[in-house]
Amino acid sequence: FNALPSKRPPIFEGIPFIGGLLKFLAPLPLLQQGYAKFGEVFTVPVLHKRITFLNGPYVTSHFFKATDDIISQKEVYGFNVPTFGPGVVYDVDIKVRTEQFRFFAEALKASKLKEYQPLILGETKDFFSAWGETGIEELSSQMGSLVTLTASRTLLGREIREVLFAEVSRLLHDLDAGMLPVSFLFPYLPIQAHRQRDKSRKELGALYKKVIEARRASGAKETDLLQTFIDARYKNNFDGRALTDEEITGLLIAALFAGQHTSSSTASWTGYYLISRKEWWQQAVEEQRQIMAEHGEEITYERVQNMPVLHRVMQEALRLHPPLILILRYVRESFEVTTKAGKTYVIPKGDVVATSPTFTHSLPDLFKEPADFDPDRYLPPREEDQKRPFTYIAFGGGRHGCMGYNFAFIQIKTIWSYLIRNFEFEMVDSFPEPDYEGLVIGPKQSHIRYRRRKL
Ligand code: HEM
Repeated sequence: FNALPSKRPPIFEGIPFIGGLLKFLAPLPLLQQGYAKFGEVFTVPVLHKRITFLNGPYVTSHFFKATDDIISQKEVYGFNVPTFGPGVVYDVDIKVRTEQFRFFAEALKASKLKEYQPLILGETKDFFSAWGETGIEELSSQMGSLVTLTASRTLLGREIREVLFAEVSRLLHDLDAGMLPVSFLFPYLPIQAHRQRDKSRKELGALYKKVIEARRASGAKETDLLQTFIDARYKNNFDGRALTDEEITGLLIAALFAGQHTSSSTASWTGYYLISRKEWWQQAVEEQRQIMAEHGEEITYERVQNMPVLHRVMQEALRLHPPLILILRYVRESFEVTTKAGKTYVIPKGDVVATSPTFTHSLPDLFKEPADFDPDRYLPPREEDQKRPFTYIAFGGGRHGCMGYNFAFIQIKTIWSYLIRNFEFEMVDSFPEPDYEGLVIGPKQSHIRYRRRKL
């Protein structure tokens, strides 16, 4: 006997088929309208599917915490399979995937990050040595190029960065270009972008096979994700075997897709905020001055761990501009949610469920004056991100929270502490708007002026 009769969420009707589809892919106005009309939970019919939006921490706990046999990723993220390749991540069942994510965890643990950090710093120094005394640059494309270099070095492998960079970049570019909004629903649609994606994915597999064979034969041990995957073994109940070359290639591509555009978007937004908010630039400069006075010039792993001002600026840039604007799951077993006001709904088996970091971060009962850039909101006693689990969800959370969280902070703080110590900046164009064209959202292009100087 259920004292509170529970029911299906309200249906947000009247959105035509195609309109519903477009709105689902660029969902913010839809979420605002739906939330104003129905509150935290509502369902949007899109084609033959029901997409139920869960908005805010009161209704997303189960979404983030439940096991994959109840709330699953595979059905909604399967569009990645032709890009990542066979035998990895969303092409395998949850048991194998969990093993593969254990390899990610191994590759991204603190002792490895400590080895990657000097490599990231090295790439950063080299990259900006090509800038002049003063000049104008488009910041987001510069950050995109730099993050491609650091990712190649630390993730894809030393050989790729040093010898095969141009070729691999071309192939990865084709994989990127093959991931269109339409690919999300129809990943195998026979269009030119998909054909090119499949061709380049094959070439990448062949190229990696050679790199892996050569590295195995030489017996060399490198500092990169590739090495961790070469050394990894499935547990004994999976026969204890090593990864195949094809699996290694697939997991490296998956890591790159998880980490690259997300990081370059965040490095860019962090920069645009530092440059345009003088009070924050001043505080960040002061923080670097103090660190240098106490610990000297070198930007080490330990130092970047302890840059609270830069950390807060980056966290706030990410709150306002999370690169992943929708997180999705598929409901395998019906469940109930209860809203803040105490209303209970049943979310039926077969629904796609979605929550939006961007929208959640804009709710005024969670974040005071949510549209304001205010990095101090994370300081005690305010700690607005800590009030309730799943309030700050730029990195997701719970069972499938981002495994690259620390990597991302270390990388971006390394880049920006180097820039703050060596350059001054001003905006040339106006502060950028988000560019909602792709699946990972970054800023539109915007130019900055730089001038070299030493702190
Ligand atoms: C998962 C965001 C950087 C690896 C996620 C999720 C989000 C996210 C929102 C959860 C997706 C979901 O629940 O469906 C970000 C942001 C980044 C970033 C904002 C940068 C600022 C990275 C980096 C790596 C990485 C650099 C690796 C090198 C992963 C992996 C998962 C993941 C492996 C899947 C975890 C799982 O499903 O259990 N990330 N990410 N991420 N991220 Fe990141």
